[in-house]
Amino acid sequence: MRHLMSPLDLSAEELDDLLTLANDIERNPSKYAHACEGKKLATCFYEPSTRTRLSFEAAMLNLGGSVLGFASADSSSAAKGESVSDTIRVISCYADICAIRHPKEGAALVASSKSSIPVINAGDGGHQHPTQTLTDLLTIRSLKGRLGNLTIGLCGDLKFGRTVHSLIHALIRYPGVKFILISPEELRIPGYIREDVLKKNNIPFEELERLEDAILQLDILYMTRVQRERFFNEEDYVRMKDFYILTKDKLAAAKEDMLILHPLPRVNEISVEVDDDPRAVYFKQAKYGVYVRMALILTLLMPNSIQVSPEGVTLLMPNSIQVSPTSANTTEGGSIC
Ligand code: CP
Repeated sequence: MRHLMSPLDLSAEELDDLLTLANDIERNPSKYAHACEGKKLATCFYEPSTRTRLSFEAAMLNLGGSVLGFASADSSSAAKGESVSDTIRVISCYADICAIRHPKEGAALVASSKSSIPVINAGDGGHQHPTQTLTDLLTIRSLKGRLGNLTIGLCGDLKFGRTVHSLIHALIRYPGVKFILISPEELRIPGYIREDVLKKNNIPFEELERLEDAILQLDILYMTRVQRERFFNEEDYVRMKDFYILTKDKLAAAKEDMLILHPLPRVNEISVEVDDDPRAVYFKQAKYGVYVRMALILTLLMPNSIQVSPEGVTLLMPNSIQVSPTSANTTEGGSIC
């Protein structure tokens, strides 16, 4: 049984296969429509979420499975003092796989150590958000055609933005990647990522404060919001929150094929006037999140039933009927999870 705590839990080859599977799901949704019949996903969210929780739920429903769970700590027995360890032991009796979001770094890892079902980290404090990274990688690979040889600007709250931490971890495996880290002094990337991830692996990077000084050279601009919920006081948040606002005027200097990504939710950091620019792909990115979470659920629940090859993706049914990449009808054979 495997869990997903960090994007590095998948080898580069496994990650490649997972993204290929997600692209196949996007092209042939009906091929996967019954893949998880009879299986249940639990979404245990101790922190607010729109995209992650609902895209996980949409993913399992698209696979023919069912969902259960809670959307806030207050509506679970955490409010009565139950530990994450006890909760996951109980959830293991009710569901086949669990996605968990928690404000404390390491909470998902604790859950995975006590769980008898696969656990997916859906965000742990300011630490990691691996399924957002899978979404980001799928978006970049699908729309740019590659994950290497890219100059990537990461802009905003690089200190608390867990999506940025996970994305850097994942992208350093691809050749020719350069990072431009754009943030105010107080929200710079944590030292452990600068030293242990970037410098240690000889990854080229620059740290800048002004977006205008970087935008010209970027292939990808990854905007992030200032993470209000991680600040110790409101005053500091208010001072930082509008440090970056991407406008049409600022975009004028960018490459014509630069992509603008944002994990969302957006607050003020991208002006709504940018939404119509063809380079703005953050809503497409949210849609890719469903395909990649479908691919992840399949990969964790039925690792031996998916075969990815240069010829395409093959789904192996439990009674050994094979569904070829060109066949969309999977109603025979029932659940394959
Ligand atoms: N990107 C993301 O994690 O969004 P939610 O907080 O809405 O899940």
